Amino acid sequence: MNAVHYGAEMTPDSPIALVDIGSAVTNIAIMKGDTTRFTRDLSTAGSTITRAIMSELGLDEKSAENAKIEHGISYESETSSDEPEMMTLSQSNLPDIFQLTGMEGGVEEEAQDSIDQRVHAICMQFLGEIVSEIKRCLLFYENQLDGQPVEKVYLTGGTVCMKNAQRYIQTLLDTPTEILDPFSKVGGSIASLEPMLRGATYTTSLGLAMRSHIGEGVS
Ligand SMILES: Nc1ncnc2c1ncn2[C@@H]1O[C@H](COP(=O)(O)OP(=O)(O)O)[C@@H](O)[C@H]1O
Ligand SMILES: [Mg+2]
Repeated sequence: MNAVHYGAEMTPDSPIALVDIGSAVTNIAIMKGDTTRFTRDLSTAGSTITRAIMSELGLDEKSAENAKIEHGISYESETSSDEPEMMTLSQSNLPDIFQLTGMEGGVEEEAQDSIDQRVHAICMQFLGEIVSEIKRCLLFYENQLDGQPVEKVYLTGGTVCMKNAQRYIQTLLDTPTEILDPFSKVGGSIASLEPMLRGATYTTSLGLAMRSHIGEGVS
């Protein structure tokens, strides 16, 4: 919240949500003006997805992590469809699948399809669960705490770097989403990093570092 208020210099008149999907934890916070009005932490996040891939496909942690990063969420067409595609097999992924499974070339397409689809399905299942919780929080906030709906959801955390994650979250959530770039008003060498990467990765660091200038900051 300090990164939002002091870094991105946002003081939203209407409530906004900041959702950080990290490794062990997903943090949800709703802010209005310069005050945090609601927070909730979930134990479902990036490592939940990696662990599910490990047990579902019988992979070690590194291979499961690589499979998650390689595949993420799949869409049939990057431009036309809003429906994530479960049946697509990207030929460019094949060498990695062979490495993952120890299979040689010439393996049956069905097996490749199956691995691909299971990784996509696991990513979708757990991101879907996180989105369901976000929705519950937004509804609770609107109905029980404020009467005003959350206008926008800003995403941060390493897991929003997953392929098509933002698009998928946006598809499931009725509220507009955006990957936060809290460094837009901050100069220095961080400006050379890609906005999505620096926003997803360093928002928490920026917020914590700012405490030396602003005290505890946002209440
Ligand atoms: N390109 C990517 N695709 C999918 N997951 C990713 C990607 N990049 C990072 N992650 C995931 O993001 C998580 C780390 O996010 P991060 O915000 O750094 O964690 P934390 O702050 O909780 O330590 C890990 O679970 C990692 O697998
Ligand atoms: Mg983080």
